[in-house]
Amino acid sequence: MIQPGLKGVVATETKISHIDGEKGRLIYRGYDVKELTEHDSFEEVAYLLWFGVLPTAKELTKFNEELKSHRTLSSYLKTILDSLPREMDMMSVLRTVVSAEGSLHYTSKPTIQQCMKLTSMMPTMIAYRNHSLQGTPFVEPRQDLGHVENYLYMLHGVLPTKAQTNALETYMILTMEHGMNASTFSARVTASTESDLISAVTSAIGTMKGPLHGGAPSEVIHLLEEIGCTANTEQVLRRKLENREKLMGFGHRVYKTHDPRAVALKSTLLKQVGEDEWLDLALYVENTAVELLEEYKPGRSLYTNVEFYAAAIMKAIHMDPSLFTPTFTASRIVGWTAHILEQSQNNTIYRPESKYTGRIL
Ligand code: ACO
Repeated sequence: MIQPGLKGVVATETKISHIDGEKGRLIYRGYDVKELTEHDSFEEVAYLLWFGVLPTAKELTKFNEELKSHRTLSSYLKTILDSLPREMDMMSVLRTVVSAEGSLHYTSKPTIQQCMKLTSMMPTMIAYRNHSLQGTPFVEPRQDLGHVENYLYMLHGVLPTKAQTNALETYMILTMEHGMNASTFSARVTASTESDLISAVTSAIGTMKGPLHGGAPSEVIHLLEEIGCTANTEQVLRRKLENREKLMGFGHRVYKTHDPRAVALKSTLLKQVGEDEWLDLALYVENTAVELLEEYKPGRSLYTNVEFYAAAIMKAIHMDPSLFTPTFTASRIVGWTAHILEQSQNNTIYRPESKYTGRIL
């Protein structure tokens, strides 16, 4: 029997995360992700995904120091970043530069140190390229800042507010890992051939780039921009639903109740960002859309997904839409690399079969 897209096929066992689509829960290594966003940093959750347990204070200090030590890019990588054509999109840039990084190290079986190095340098790659495109001087990473705070600092050249850092940190923790999604599966397939960590991450970036996977948050921005103000909301949404268009940022293949990541992002936005015209509009659009979706699509249980409030968060922290998917990549790399480690520790090569429907002579 063929399962198009392997839908419903259980391809492997994992101890990394669990998605409960009926109850709307996402668990990382036994911990509810919402609680992790409330008590833990990006670094602590990355440690949890890679090592399987949360770090002690001593372990965290050592881990943070090592992670920070990899923030600076080599002149070799900077030369490559400078020589790529301006019109090359950021995801293709990341795929190329990560691949180039692999010519220097990473020849052994995947290790946690390799995962840390690549995760640490990815925000610097994004910020370096962004400054180069904007024609603004590169802002070197700072060693006294946390991973997410330093990313925002490098992008904007000024220290972010605590609220801005918390908002992005929540987003990056919530999107670090999500089971056997397409890019994670790509990473595991490459790792299953006993190829190196860089090749597996490069496969994942190429998969993440596709609009059906990593590209949705900017579509939500287009929707909010098209609506523009609360007074237009019902009219625009009704027109789209009458035209049988999908409302971007609503519905999910796995979650048939509230997406827990959307719930967590919304409460962070309300707490951290406070007064913000985009947030007010997003809240109004959510309420109106959920009512209208029930009217036009009764019984389908359509609620906001993670992309809806991700877009509002990005807008509130002044992140350019061209950086949405790369920022998603800078968080999901933790999940990819955790899966690459897991795959390489207990490996069976992925080799499904296909049914021939072509001509037989
Ligand atoms: N707007 C309007 N109607 C919708 C929406 C939506 N956003 N989502 C689902 N529906 C309707 C469908 O038209 C369908 O109606 P029907 O029964 O009359 O044919 C019904 O609800 C079921 O929808 P499916 O498309 O079968 O649901 P599926 O689980 O296959 O799709 C998906 C999930 C792709 C996310 C869909 O809800 C969608 O396209 N949403 C908008 C795009 C989006 O926000 N993508 C980001 C997802 S989150 C992520 O990828 C990280």
